[in-house]
Amino acid sequence: MIKINESYLKLQASYLFIDIARRVQAFQAAHPEKEIIKLGIGDVTHPLPDACIQAFHQGVDEMASAATFRGYGPEQGYAFLREKIAEHDFQARGADIAADEIFISDGAKCDTGNIQEIFSQEIRIAVPDPVYPVYVDTNVMAGRTGAAEEGRYKGLVYLEGTRENGFIPALPGEPVDLIYLCYPNNPTGATITREQLKVWVDYARENRSLILYDAAYEAFIRDPALPRTIYEIEGAREVAIEFRSFSKTAGFTGTRCAFTVVPKVCTAYDTAGEKHLVHALWNRRHGTKFNGVSYPVQKAAEAVYSPEGQAQARALIDGYLENAALIRREMSSLGFDCVGGENSPYIWVDGRRDSWAFFDLLLNEAGVVCTPGAGFGRCGEGYIRISAFNSRDNVEAAMARIRSALAG
Ligand code: MLT
Repeated sequence: MIKINESYLKLQASYLFIDIARRVQAFQAAHPEKEIIKLGIGDVTHPLPDACIQAFHQGVDEMASAATFRGYGPEQGYAFLREKIAEHDFQARGADIAADEIFISDGAKCDTGNIQEIFSQEIRIAVPDPVYPVYVDTNVMAGRTGAAEEGRYKGLVYLEGTRENGFIPALPGEPVDLIYLCYPNNPTGATITREQLKVWVDYARENRSLILYDAAYEAFIRDPALPRTIYEIEGAREVAIEFRSFSKTAGFTGTRCAFTVVPKVCTAYDTAGEKHLVHALWNRRHGTKFNGVSYPVQKAAEAVYSPEGQAQARALIDGYLENAALIRREMSSLGFDCVGGENSPYIWVDGRRDSWAFFDLLLNEAGVVCTPGAGFGRCGEGYIRISAFNSRDNVEAAMARIRSALAG
């Protein structure tokens, strides 16, 4: 008899964004005449930067000729891309990261989901609340938690983000081994300062823990005082893995390219307390289960680092940040307390009511899709997340509709 992995039965509902899509579909089926504006899932709407498109085409052309055709590439990614990343995203900011510490992949979602499998079943895991659901669900699937009770899984340590702590959780009150952090934060849009991040790096060093730092929204940081990578913090190389993505940086959500940084000195331990290099484990895992991102896609990603690509990607993000500023301004003027939207594409709005009720109100009365904060955890109850990923026209229309729905 074939038996299932019963940990899957512990998973609460379906993946949040699938749940939302289902509600939106039902609404659309009932009201086919209504045009819905989607400010829910953080999915880009603008085309790829022209520099990326040119390089993408060139990569495809190379695949069309026997002289330039390529089969399997290196599982870790082509050197031309890894070198550009190391130079521009890290060394240029004083962060000591080498090209061979970068693993190219097809997404930060996959990497943040897959990384847990190189660690023991027994580790104590700390996740933020509110949280990007992938961190939690993948550990549930792996059997590291007990059952869910009142929206929380037994066995996980929840790091509470609240208005009072600015969505920067305090250090855990009990020992933890693996810590998920995400800044600029999804879902709240909050950012972390160097000093605040240093507290976590110091904690990890003192407790022989490891930080999984999701920096998928790094390109939205405009405040020069904020850290752009955890490796700007002294001592982080030994205790942190960083996840990045071209999805939000350059519009690659449908093209798929990301990378994970695992410094060669990053350390974890076996049951006897012996040190092991996480780089070697992740390299082994990557080489066994992944065959690399396609050559044309890596060429397109490399073009992000050309002078034209840099300017075009920045302009893309500037547009989304202008949307974010508009959303924040409008929601604040309607009397809602907002976080984020300044160095982040997400605006976290205190709806002062049940989050799914606010989600339904905006969908039914304004035809606008947001994301209910409760879907990100208990601390998200009462909030909604509005995403700035859409055209300027749609964001303006959405804000006008919300204004009139709330007035009515
Ligand atoms: C989100 O809306 O939170 C993101 O789009 C999710 C993701 O990038 O996977």
